[in-house]
Amino acid sequence: MNAPTIRTERFIIRPFKDADAKLWQSWDVDPEIQAHTPEPINEPQDIAEQHEYIKECEEEEDGYYWSIEAKTGPTIGTVALTDINEHHKLAEIAILIGDKDYWGKGVATEVVTAVINFAFYELGVVRISAETEAGNIAVSKVLEKVGFIQDGEFLSARVKNGQRVDVNHYGILNPRKQQ
Ligand SMILES: CC(C)(COP(=O)(O)OP(=O)(O)OC[C@H]1O[C@@H](n2cnc3c(N)ncnc32)[C@H](O)[C@@H]1OP(=O)(O)O)[C@@H](O)C(=O)NCCC(=O)NCCS
Repeated sequence: MNAPTIRTERFIIRPFKDADAKLWQSWDVDPEIQAHTPEPINEPQDIAEQHEYIKECEEEEDGYYWSIEAKTGPTIGTVALTDINEHHKLAEIAILIGDKDYWGKGVATEVVTAVINFAFYELGVVRISAETEAGNIAVSKVLEKVGFIQDGEFLSARVKNGQRVDVNHYGILNPRKQQ
């Protein structure tokens, strides 16, 4: 699906560009960035494979994929609204800030707010879900700050670095549309 560009106070949430692929190559192999992302962790891919991934994302019929660009210039992360179900009016959200200089500065809070507003008010989605490994305090804080409520806990749901970990499930409902 063609992702629209969404502007927030400090960021431009825009469709992927081929130039983003080079950044992903470093983010995919950074253990700190990948500490709570689901395994299997992305294998380092060559640029041609990354460009192919961009094409696949654009062609996907139930998801929007964006890069997050600071208005001051750098591209700092990605965000996606996936598994959009038009019948049940559902979607899932996931975010990754790959530029660690931007962690803890409210980026995810600002971007997730903009993407859920797009889902609710432009797409008419009624419920958005998110999943996070139990130890991922930062993303849990972000989700709770923007209004998600934890509505599930899946015990021992994934393997991470050889250990079983719990996965927390979060949901948020469209305040204007519950049907
Ligand atoms: C998780 C992530 C998206 C958070 O993005 P961010 O832009 O730094 O988040 P924000 O600044 O909007 O808010 C983070 C909140 O968590 C807090 N926080 C950040 N790191 C933390 C940590 N290690 N432990 C506890 N709290 C932490 C911040 O202080 C802030 O809370 P506050 O507003 O009450 O001070 C980002 O760190 C990231 O992309 N990490 C790697 C990928 C990842 O884990 N993605 C999610 C997979 S489900």
